[in-house]
Amino acid sequence: MAQQTKTHPVGGVSEPLANHSKNPDFHTIMNQRFSRRTFLKGSLGLAITSFFAPALSGCSSGSMPARPLAFEPIAANRLDQITLPPGYNARPFIPWGTPLMGNAPEFAPDASNNAADQALQVGSHHDGMHYFPIDLPRGGSNSSEGLLVLNHEYVDLNLIHPQGANLEQRQRDEVEKELNAHGVSVVHIMQRPSGDWDVVQQSPLNRRITGFTPMAISGPVRGHPLLVTQYSPGGTHTRGTINNCSHGVTPWGTYLTCEENWAGSFVNRDDSLPREHERYGILRQHSWYRWDEVEQAPDHIARFDASTRADSAAQDYRNEPNHFGWIVEIDPFNPNSMPVKRTAMGRFAHEGVIFAPAVEGEPLVAYSGDDARFEYIYKFVSAAPYEAATASGRLLDSGTLYVARFNADGTGEWLALSLEDADFMAKAQAAGHNFDSQADILLNTRLAADIAGATKMDRPEWGAVDPQTGAVYFTLTNNMRRTNEQIDPANPRAENAHGHIIRWHERESNQSRTFDWDLFLMGGDVGQPQPNADLQATTENHFACPDGLWFDPQGTLWIQTDMSGDTLAKGPFGNNAMLAANPQTGELKRFLVGPVDCEITGVVTTPDQRTMFVNVQHPGEGSKPEALSSHWPDGGTSRPRSATIIITKDDGGVIGG
Ligand code: FEO
Ligand code: CA
Ligand code: CA
Ligand code: CA
Repeated sequence: MAQQTKTHPVGGVSEPLANHSKNPDFHTIMNQRFSRRTFLKGSLGLAITSFFAPALSGCSSGSMPARPLAFEPIAANRLDQITLPPGYNARPFIPWGTPLMGNAPEFAPDASNNAADQALQVGSHHDGMHYFPIDLPRGGSNSSEGLLVLNHEYVDLNLIHPQGANLEQRQRDEVEKELNAHGVSVVHIMQRPSGDWDVVQQSPLNRRITGFTPMAISGPVRGHPLLVTQYSPGGTHTRGTINNCSHGVTPWGTYLTCEENWAGSFVNRDDSLPREHERYGILRQHSWYRWDEVEQAPDHIARFDASTRADSAAQDYRNEPNHFGWIVEIDPFNPNSMPVKRTAMGRFAHEGVIFAPAVEGEPLVAYSGDDARFEYIYKFVSAAPYEAATASGRLLDSGTLYVARFNADGTGEWLALSLEDADFMAKAQAAGHNFDSQADILLNTRLAADIAGATKMDRPEWGAVDPQTGAVYFTLTNNMRRTNEQIDPANPRAENAHGHIIRWHERESNQSRTFDWDLFLMGGDVGQPQPNADLQATTENHFACPDGLWFDPQGTLWIQTDMSGDTLAKGPFGNNAMLAANPQTGELKRFLVGPVDCEITGVVTTPDQRTMFVNVQHPGEGSKPEALSSHWPDGGTSRPRSATIIITKDDGGVIGG
């Protein structure tokens, strides 16, 4: 049962580094990349800054040097608590089940709340998150009242129900509760004079978006025949968003939630799968949660069976999986707004999305990683220029989607996945693949990227853009399946148990088709060689499996880890953690250690940087109802719950500063 409750069937075995291949030796690659790094570092004050100068002019931090990390680093541990440096404290906030809307009941400690209760309570498995100042629509930056918007990535069947779930006999109310625990919470929060934060009860802005919430589909794929379902014969609407991992924030103040491991929620029992199912790993026998297997399943659950069951697509749900794998835009300030799936940004296992700083009069640029082994990093460039006065989600409905190729010499290329790109269409024809429209390409984004010749990465997770330099950083969390024959300079380790962080800067402008890249950090134990020779891996900064990534406005890079399997259980790294890095000086320090069997994911501060919000996902993962491995955050013998934590400094100062 345990593997049924994980949306990341990854982890695997952690083994010591052993590179026996004929491929370029790791240190040779490091040395090549080191010269690249020197170039990047040396040009900070010149080339890079000038590339991004227009964007920086609107940035509150200006072009100040990144600040030193002014806290004492902490050692790894395996305690069932949050550990922070001296002078900091953390309080759990809005754990799974917190009453949020209307007359929502209190959380039942035995997990006996039903589906209707869950629809009004905070969802489970907190992940990507952003704080929107309450006065943002009026241009404000309120740091004591705002909307905390967060994703709920998945559910743990052993913890969401009192006695777990019987997969052989799925119950309707259980399944509906699970879908109601997915999605997004919009939480109106306010700080008291004492410094504590509360949910604003009965605020009309509090909102749950779930696996059932009606949504519109926009962009090139809207109305495509492969979107036709019984629910939406026109292929224009759908119900719900699921497996919401990381997120993005648009320059016009909306929230983007990203659909990551949705494919495992679907089953297709037809004899063969169409390419838009097969390349995404739609399951053949049973879906992970078997939502469709409820006896006499009503339509809103039965749709997770994408087998052909009727004479036409308008009479069944053969196309339902094609409604997932998108980036979904939500206006947190309008609780009546219908979320919109923005198809021009591609269909894959979107981890998150990060925008390059918007430049007035230039196209808008965003990056998104496809988190699966050997998948790709993408870039979207809007067709229309960004204009602050009129910018809206329509900018995300038309543009060019590119995929990254990392060359061995430290250069890189963005390869267009476009019907209008002659090179791409020639490659598609040569490979025997036909695309009849841009919608067809976008529905099959992974296949298109295969054809284009993109670089297969070690599971791209979050991205972050350095506010000082404009350089783009991406975590590559791990990939135990990469063999010696498959290593390349951007993914230089076979059986990559510990992951790494790559970065690049665009050549002429954000929409350039060429870039320069290097490796920033290598996960690993004490003694792990680093691209930056000045940086030593010590017991106070060693890490593995980087996942969450965020630059604060002053240029501190916050790195969150998601180890699983043996790396978490037996590795030298303790529980999952959050570190802080100063890319300009090479400083790296562990700031936070989470409770047992959690991952740390999602981080943002208020604009004044005096309150930090961090998510603690799946403490006690792997628990059984009768054998809990964590009791965080409630303590005693309680069931563990995902929760946000609120971090402040005892002296009220800036976090990390
Ligand atoms: Fe949901 Fe790739 O982490
Ligand atoms: Ca993640
Ligand atoms: Ca992860
Ligand atoms: Ca996890």
